[in-house]
Formats: sequence, structure tokens, C-alpha cells
Amino acid sequence: MAKKKHPLYEQVSISDTGNDGLSVGKHNGMAVFVKNAVPGDVVDIQIVKKKRNYAEGRAVKFHTYSPDRVAPECKHFGLCGGCTRQDLSYEKQLEFKQKVVFDCFTRIGHLTFPEISPILPSENQFYYRNKMDFGFTASRWVTTEEMDSGSEVEERRALGFHVPGMFDKIFNVTECLLQPEPSNQIRNGLREFTLKNNIPYYHIRSHEGFMRNLIVRNNQEGQVMVIVAFAYEHPEWQQAVMHYLDSNFPQIVSLYQVVNTKLNDTLYDQDLQLYKGSPFLEEKLGDLRFLIGPKSFFQTNSRQGKRLYDITRNFAQLTGSELVYDLYTGTGTIACYVASEASKVVGVEYVPEAIEDAHKNAQLNGIENTAFFAGDMKDVLNDDFVATHGKPDVIITDPPRAGMHDDVTRKILELSPSRIVYVSCNPATQARDLAILCEKYRITKVQPVDMFPHTYHVENVVLLERNT
Ligand SMILES: C[S@@+](CC[C@H](N)C(=O)[O-])C[C@H]1O[C@@H](n2cnc3c(N)ncnc32)[C@H](O)[C@@H]1O
Repeated sequence: MAKKKHPLYEQVSISDTGNDGLSVGKHNGMAVFVKNAVPGDVVDIQIVKKKRNYAEGRAVKFHTYSPDRVAPECKHFGLCGGCTRQDLSYEKQLEFKQKVVFDCFTRIGHLTFPEISPILPSENQFYYRNKMDFGFTASRWVTTEEMDSGSEVEERRALGFHVPGMFDKIFNVTECLLQPEPSNQIRNGLREFTLKNNIPYYHIRSHEGFMRNLIVRNNQEGQVMVIVAFAYEHPEWQQAVMHYLDSNFPQIVSLYQVVNTKLNDTLYDQDLQLYKGSPFLEEKLGDLRFLIGPKSFFQTNSRQGKRLYDITRNFAQLTGSELVYDLYTGTGTIACYVASEASKVVGVEYVPEAIEDAHKNAQLNGIENTAFFAGDMKDVLNDDFVATHGKPDVIITDPPRAGMHDDVTRKILELSPSRIVYVSCNPATQARDLAILCEKYRITKVQPVDMFPHTYHVENVVLLERNT
């Protein structure tokens, strides 16, 4: 059967952005989602997917360019899925992020809430990330321009980022404006070294090849942790790579290697070997110091992370007498941050290594009123746990993008602390969870924070106060 040809919608005015970073226009009253246009553009859209009440497509002709467009600074813009909003002025990016929170709260949560405070902009719009993951590939993505040029593709091996939506396609990154140096130098240097020495790159489909992943983390002082993942044991190549990094980048204070023979790239279940230096990277936030292990979550924009924690602590309104639960505590950062204003803070987190770091962080800062426990929140947060550690006066919760498991949200409702501070990196799931919590609570403060300029991601802090 011949494939159905989708229509071309002409002269569509792009008016909005959605929660997932796509821009939105209307055609005959129906929402049309496009990736490569910004609000203010007027475009012809080639539809690629059509459903009953919405369509998706690609802008193929621009009639009017939005006055809010700016020239993207990154040379990989368009192909990279990282900073997809770089073509929109920062002021407009913020405006749309603010609106995303409003839309999620009204459309998903059907919530009643006070005026949303103006989103807190990021001080740095580039070089704000402290962690980047790169992948090696034996068969890189070849761009349309390269194919159109007609010349032979000389080098297929690459080290870079995945092409959005393609698990098996990586494009070569020569410059990324998100992480400060020496991130680019390390990635480009390692690529050059391994190519020159013919150390084979990983093939994501056939699972052959040796060089697999590179993770670069840094602190605000410019110290660096590097983790290299190899696909199998090969002592000679491993030693060559680790020695290259160690001897060329004095900024590396913590150097790890891991042999990952699994089919997927995640390292959480892998045995990471410290090759040289400290097992941790140390980061300062305010008066506190934090140890970050290779598997630990840490707010990816450290400067903005501190401001996020200031807001969280402020919203918690602690007086020194409260028992606080810090759910999804990671390495115990929020717990440590609020500990001096609480009687005790109990942190819970899934990753056992992060909990080990949380213990170390509390110790490092001379904090004695915290306790940390590892496990899946929906299993840990039960009656026995509460009987052992006490009923919380305040709960701070900072779940991953998926939000909280329904059992956890229900348990929080049952515990009914006087205040809940809900920190979220996904206002859509936050709105869903808040709708449940609002059975007993009212939303009294909403503060969005921009942690990731040029992306569609928005962080949002909400204060809930128990109805009396
Ligand atoms: C957004 S991070 C917040 C970490 C921490 N509050 C911070 O600011 O650094 C979410 C954390 O939740 C943890 N997590 C994810 N799913 C979990 C679960 N089911 N149970 C407990 N923790 C979980 C992750 O490992 C991660 O550390």
C-alpha cells in the first residue's frame, strides 16, 4: 500500500513554545508542533505526523523571521539536541519558561496558585554546566551537507553527542559552549590521541570496538574529574589512554576508568576504578563543601544550584526545632544546606554511593544532625521508617523528571507535615503531583529558576502549606 502523503500547511504563525521544547502554531484551529521555528516566525510546515487533534512537522519555508530570533553561537546548533533554543533571545526564553510553568499548573494540574514569581535567570548563559557525557562511535552521523558535497567521507570515527532521537547515531563535537575548559581540550585531545594510535571506537549496534564513553565533571575552581569507559579489558590501550589524560591535563584531580561490557552505557551498576588522584571532586556552595563521587548526582549548574538551595531553604522557613525529611537527597546537598536551621534532617536516596557521599558531606562540614538512608522511595518511606525516625514537620522533595511515585505522594499526604517544599525539574509531573497534594495543601509560593539556558528545561520550586 502506498504511504499516505502528509500535507503542507502554509503561512502558519508560530505563537508559543510547549513543555518539550517544540514551538507551536495553529492551523485551522488545530495545534501544530515544530522543532525548527520560534515564536514570531511565519512558516510553511511540512507535516510528518497527523493525529485527530494535533499535527507535527518541520518548517520548510520561512515567510517572516521572528524579531526575537538571535544568531546561535554554537557551530553544532541545529544538529545537537543540547541547546535547541539558542536561536531565541534569552529574555524570550525566560518568558516562555515562565509560561510553561503557568500552563502546566493550569492545564495539567488544574491548580489554584498565587502569582508565579519572575523566573530567576542564570548568571551564566554559556559554560554553566559542570558535567558532560560524550560517546565514541565507529560510525558517526554524516551530515546532509557532507552527503550533498559528493566527496568521500574520510573519517567515520567520532567522539561527541547523540543525534536527538537516535540511540545509535553520534555526531562529532569539536566545540561545546556548555562546559568550561579544559572540557573541549580533553575531548578533542583524547579523540586525536586515540585516532592517532588506532585504538578502536565502539560500534553501538554490533557492540564491537573499545573506546566507549567519556565523562568530564568540573568544579567552580576549575578542577576536573574524568571517567573513561572501555568496552572490554585491554591493559595496554587502557594504560595508554589513562596515561595520556593524566600527563596532559594537570586540571584532572580525579581520574577513573571502567570496563563496561553491558549492552547499555549506564555506569551506575559498574565498578569504577580510580586510576589516579582523589576519589572525589570537591565543590563549594555557600559555606559548605561537598564531595562528588563519579556516580553521584550533583546540580549541573553549580552557581544556579546554590541559588536554588537558597530559595528552598527560604521556603522551608525553619526555626531550628523542625524534623525535616529531604526526599531524593542525592549526595545530601539540600539536607546539609538546611541542617543548621533544623533540629534534624533525614535524607533518602536511591543510589547507595550517593548516600555514602551524603554521610561524608555531613561529616566534612561538621554537621551532626543529619541521617541518610538508601533505597527506592516508595519502599523506604513506610510506617516503620516514620516510627523509627519520627513524623516530619517539613518535607523537602526533589524527585527526578518522572516526579514522585503515586505511593510516595500519598504517603506524604498521610504524614501531612505543616510545609512541603517541592523542587522539580519537570513542571508537568510536578503539576500532576501537586494536584494530589492539594487535597490537604494550598500552594503559597512558586519560584521558577533557569538552570539550563538555551534548553527548554525549567526548574521550579513550590511551597505548599497545610490547610488547617
Ligand atoms: C533531581 S535529583 C535531586 C538530588 C538532590 N536533591 C540535589 O539537589 O542534588 C533526584 C535524585 O533522586 C534520586 N532518585 C531517583 N529515583 C529515586 C527513587 N525511586 N527513590 C529514591 N531516590 C530516587 C536520584 O538518584 C537523584 O539523586
